[in-house]
Amino acid sequence: MAILENVKIEKLDHFGRGLVHNNGIIFIENALPGDVVDIEIVKDKKGIKEAVVLKYKERSNMYQEAICPYAKECGGCHIINLQYEEQLKYKKQKVQELIDKMLKEDIKVNEVISSGNAFNYRNKITLHGDGKKIGLYRNKTNEVIAIDECQLVNPRINALIKRINDYLAERDVLIYDVTIKTTTLLEDMLIVHGRLDYEDFKKEFSDVKVIFINEQMVTKEHYIREELLSKQFDISPNSFFQVNMQTTPLLYEKVKSLLKNNHYKTCLDLYCGTGTISILVSDLFARVYGIEVVKDAVLDANRNKELNGVNNVEFIWGKTEDHLGEFQDIDVVIVDPPREGLDRKTKDNLKRIKPKTIIYVSCDPATLMRDLSELKDLYDIKEINICDMFSQTYHVESICVLNLKNK
Ligand SMILES: C[S@@+](CC[C@H](N)C(=O)[O-])C[C@H]1O[C@@H](n2cnc3c(N)ncnc32)[C@H](O)[C@@H]1O
Repeated sequence: MAILENVKIEKLDHFGRGLVHNNGIIFIENALPGDVVDIEIVKDKKGIKEAVVLKYKERSNMYQEAICPYAKECGGCHIINLQYEEQLKYKKQKVQELIDKMLKEDIKVNEVISSGNAFNYRNKITLHGDGKKIGLYRNKTNEVIAIDECQLVNPRINALIKRINDYLAERDVLIYDVTIKTTTLLEDMLIVHGRLDYEDFKKEFSDVKVIFINEQMVTKEHYIREELLSKQFDISPNSFFQVNMQTTPLLYEKVKSLLKNNHYKTCLDLYCGTGTISILVSDLFARVYGIEVVKDAVLDANRNKELNGVNNVEFIWGKTEDHLGEFQDIDVVIVDPPREGLDRKTKDNLKRIKPKTIIYVSCDPATLMRDLSELKDLYDIKEINICDMFSQTYHVESICVLNLKNK
């Protein structure tokens, strides 16, 4: 397809791609605002084009060298070439643009909450086997790029990646995929699928607290423990847990601070996972209810409640949309849904319950804005904060406060 020379990138789009207007819009991966590039159009659908960079003529003053040898192939770190301060500005601007476009209200995004740790922050990675080593999928394919380390994960996970690769090199065994998790309390978990000698693997990784092979637990322990804001949380293999080891406490601290000095009695924590938010805010309410669809996460949440001596929280196993209809007279609702955001039934029930305050924790600003635009007739959108939970990627975590009008 067409080749264009000396194209100057205008800005980044919501997926971290360079954007230019030239007979329609062109999206260009691995290009930063200010870069001057020669590009080749590789896709053209009704004037919306995608292009690849053939040559960088001038690099942006926001550019930084990627510290990862796999960056170009893997594609997981969409904005690794953007200096960290610029990444934070980009995320703030991206959310502000969505507010201006979708809410059309005078709301300004607060400063970005960041731990300052742009690398080695993740407590979890899933890798796939290529027959010899383990690695990440090449961008948009199922082809495995073998790796020895990933710049996003905690060094304990990188040490385990190296050990697993050494293990595979010495034996005639196969790993199809492996999930490695760790905690700040230095407890590790391996969830492996493959053709392995269970006893041999267990012996080689005898220092790992929890090992599951092909869904079978081969260790005595089922949980790894994490500590957040002086509370302890046990996490089992199937339960969600926030991935950023340094920023997660800041996120929860922010949620707590938004509820301080309230005189409310009841709180609902929807999409509660292992009960982290419910337990962390339990001292601010007489009664807290958490709803979560994954059964193991609810079992973890109940265990975590006991672990922390909390007795005013009740966890309910099931879908938020199936249980919310049972509630009324709730003062505060905290929602932390997956990227799809809130479904129709949940939003209708929130409008019926009319909690005085809703705290919306979101990992997708587009679905957040869609949901806020439906709630804004009943609620004042008081503040929107951003938390950098996913450095080097275009993903943004937001924390939004809604107050019931005329309460
Ligand atoms: C972004 S996580 C938040 C978990 C928790 N608030 C935390 O901070 O660890 C979303 C959670 O929602 C759960 N989930 C997904 N769909 C759900 C639904 N329809 N009803 C209830 N929980 C759901 C997932 O299993 C996951 O634990």
